[in-house]
Amino acid sequence: MKRLLVTGASGFLGRRIAEFYGRNYEVVTPGHQEMDITDKEKVSAIFHDFKPHFVIHSAAVSDVGMCEKEPERSWKMNVEGSRNIALASAELHAKCLMCSSDQIYFGSKIPGPHREDESVNSLNVYGRQKKQAEEECLAENPKCVMLRLSWMYDTVTKSKYEHGDFFRTLALGLKKKEILRYPVHDVRGITDVDEVVRNLEYAWELEGGVYNFGSPNDRNTYETVIAMFTKLGWDAKVVQRNEEAFAPAPRDISMNTDKINKNGIVFSSTLDGLIRNGRLLKLTKESK
Ligand SMILES: NC(=O)c1ccc[n+]([C@@H]2O[C@H](COP(=O)([O-])OP(=O)(O)OC[C@H]3O[C@@H](n4cnc5c(N)ncnc54)[C@H](OP(=O)(O)O)[C@@H]3O)[C@@H](O)[C@H]2O)c1
Repeated sequence: MKRLLVTGASGFLGRRIAEFYGRNYEVVTPGHQEMDITDKEKVSAIFHDFKPHFVIHSAAVSDVGMCEKEPERSWKMNVEGSRNIALASAELHAKCLMCSSDQIYFGSKIPGPHREDESVNSLNVYGRQKKQAEEECLAENPKCVMLRLSWMYDTVTKSKYEHGDFFRTLALGLKKKEILRYPVHDVRGITDVDEVVRNLEYAWELEGGVYNFGSPNDRNTYETVIAMFTKLGWDAKVVQRNEEAFAPAPRDISMNTDKINKNGIVFSSTLDGLIRNGRLLKLTKESK
């Protein structure tokens, strides 16, 4: 059995990766206490112990607000920690997939959907740290595959520490019969985490470099939800326009997926993913 090392396995994505690949790989998940990714020697020692064939690096400070508040601490994790993982992977000749982010495109003057080779300088600290991590990891280990992920959701909660996400917040709002407000000045991919997890296995085959890796979406978030409700035959009156959010600086961080598509990796559109999962939600409601 091939060995797969997953960082950040107590987090939203890492937990799901470890669970899914545990069926066909020997998965090792050194946690924060055992392997602080900012400790270069420790990372190298753990890698030499486990001798992974594959690595998926999902540990990070993933909270955009936290990166603004504590840029130095988050830099240590998001940039230095990632570089340590890239270096250790190179030492062991392990193929390394790294989680980057669509926030890299935040503030781009070029209209979306954005392509990987665009010149970017994100307006937020998190986006800039992810970009710097991409550059430094590829300089140390050109075989690294940097995956720019979009906003991910699941339909189920796997840990009490888990942050909310797009789908579960929507489902909870519906259950509580709340008015749901979504921004009209925000365009981005929103992706079913299950598709991300499954597609990672195909990403082993990719050449080193940067790849947009998530659902394409050309609607703003309000339009996306309206289209979902309409398709599912749900009452769209509960969905309202949020005109304030992102109004001072409208955001479009949607991603062009031609590059992964050419490599045989395909994601559903955001709308199709939401409709598919929305149907399940409806079935669950009816079956109760
Ligand atoms: N979630 C999304 O929608 C989204 C979107 C785009 C990109 N991404 C990227 O995808 C990756 C996974 O995101 P996520 O939402 O799963 O993150 P998450 O839930 O916040 O999990 C982060 C993980 O990193 C670990 N960690 C933090 N500092 C560490 C350190 N110094 N050493 C070792 N481990 C450390 C945490 O462990 P402890 O809890 O024990 O500290 C936790 O397991 C991240 O790179 C993120 O930037 C996520």
